[in-house]
Formats: sequence, C-alpha cells, structure tokens
Amino acid sequence: MGTETADDAGIYQLTDDLAVVQTADLFPPVVDDPYSFGAIAAANALSDVYAMGGRPLTAMNLVGWPNGVIEYEHLGEVMRGGAEKIAEAGATLVGGHSWDDAEPKYGLSVTGVIDPKKIVANATAQPGDELVLTKPLGMGIITTAIKSELVSEQTIDQAVTIMATLNASAAEAMLEVGAHAATDVTGFGLMGHLLEVTKGSHVTAEISAGAVPVLEEARALVAQDVAPGGTHRNLQALAADVDFGSLSKNEQLLLADAQTSGGLLIAVAPEKLDQLLEALRKRETPAVAHIGRLLDDPSGRIIVRP
Ligand code: CO
Ligand code: CO
Repeated sequence: MGTETADDAGIYQLTDDLAVVQTADLFPPVVDDPYSFGAIAAANALSDVYAMGGRPLTAMNLVGWPNGVIEYEHLGEVMRGGAEKIAEAGATLVGGHSWDDAEPKYGLSVTGVIDPKKIVANATAQPGDELVLTKPLGMGIITTAIKSELVSEQTIDQAVTIMATLNASAAEAMLEVGAHAATDVTGFGLMGHLLEVTKGSHVTAEISAGAVPVLEEARALVAQDVAPGGTHRNLQALAADVDFGSLSKNEQLLLADAQTSGGLLIAVAPEKLDQLLEALRKRETPAVAHIGRLLDDPSGRIIVRP
C-alpha cells in the first residue's frame, strides 16, 4: 500500500502473514514544555501505525534544532519525552538524524509490523457502517490559544494529556472487535480525514454535530475568534464536499479544527458498534463517541446534522 488513497502509513508485504508498516512525522513545538512536546510528537508519529492496525517495533528520532540558539538541555527534555512514549508503545529507539534548523522540530520515523490479512485501511469502509471517534476535538484551537497565553494551566494540562495519549488502546479495541476502516485525526481535522474515508470507500457520511466530542474551552475560544490558519484553510477546502446545513460558522470551525495527535476515527459494522464502544470504554480512551454513520451513496460527501 503506497500513496494512492492518502492512507496513514505505507505497507510492504514480506511473507503471507507478515508486512512492515512505515511512517514518519515531525512538527514544531505545540506546547511550551519541551518534555510534553516530545511526548506529543512521538505519540503523533506512532499513531499512523496504530491507525492501520499495526504494532510499532522501532523508531528513529528526527530532530531539527537551532544550534547555539536554544540550550541543549531543552533538546534533552524533548527527546526524553519522546523516548518514554516509544518505550510505552513497546517499541525500541534505534537511532535518528538531526540538523540545524531555524526553529525546533521533533518527530519520529516508525517501523511496525502487521498481518497483511488484518490491515485496517482508510478506503475500505462499507455503507451502513457506524463512525466512532476516540479523542475530543479542539486541540488546534487550544494550542493556538496557548501561544497567545489565552488558556488556563488546567486546560493546557488537559490538552497535553489527550495529545500525549497513545492510540494503542483504541487500536487494540478496534482490532479485538474488527473494524472495516480507520484513520487518525490530525492536520486535516475530523472532516478532512473523514473525506479521505468517504471518497476512498465511495460512501457518504452523515455526522451528528452534537455527538462529536469537543473540549469546552475550545468552544469558548472559537467564540472569541481564536482558531489557527490551518483550521480556517481546512474549512475552506471542505466547501465542495460537506453540507453543513444550519450549523454556525463557529461550529463548522470546531469540526474542521486541525488536530495534533488526534484520536482514531473508526468505521465499524452496525452489529459490532456496541461491542466497540464497550471495548473502548473498558480501555478508557479519551473519548468514546458514536458520531455518525455511512450511507449507500458513492458521492463521497459528508452531510452534517445538528
Ligand atoms: Co494519519
Ligand atoms: Co501523519
């Protein structure tokens, strides 16, 4: 599996029952604390392996750093945050690469394994499937507000905890129950990544806006006009494919919000929905939300209900 369907990771089959999963991701700091930034960046990079149903085996650090400008002890904290997430994932840090950069950047290249018969792609959803989300939205809006010092410590802690949470247990629940398709919600936001599922799977999605979990603080911030450029661009890009009905502009921005290290968006057969929700609850994923369903209409659009 390569770049055809905007899937989360590349997969290369080695034998009948073994394939490697490969992905890489890095970005500039989303929070001030270097240790938390490292943990979030690592959880985000590992997530693409989990989104496909794979198990991460090895990771390599990718580090851009303003040499001689920001002290190396901060870089040490970034890498400690990353290393602890890699260990939590049961993977091994085997090396990496660094370069001089105008602003700090950190992430991982991750290699995992998967049984080729158990790949959970993003373009294999079925009409009638139910849609489930495992983390709340609002991280793009909140991290933007952090840069302008508009949020409380408590909200920062809450957002950091959510972003640093591995999608490992969500993926475990998904594999236990058996899902038709999945992806993780990151830069293109819930709607953008859902469109990859609907277009790739030739189905239409119906979303209940009221059922989508959003951090309360993000709701308040968007009402004060706080939203990152990426979120506004996401919303503009959705115009042709999404029917937002009577939803307010602020509600639309929340659904389009660019996420960092977001949750899994899972498409599951209706008869397995309750089982999946229960499996997620048992593992205490940051959200356990049934947000909509897929309709037998190949146009690949999204219809948003209040
Ligand atoms: Co992804
Ligand atoms: Co990615």
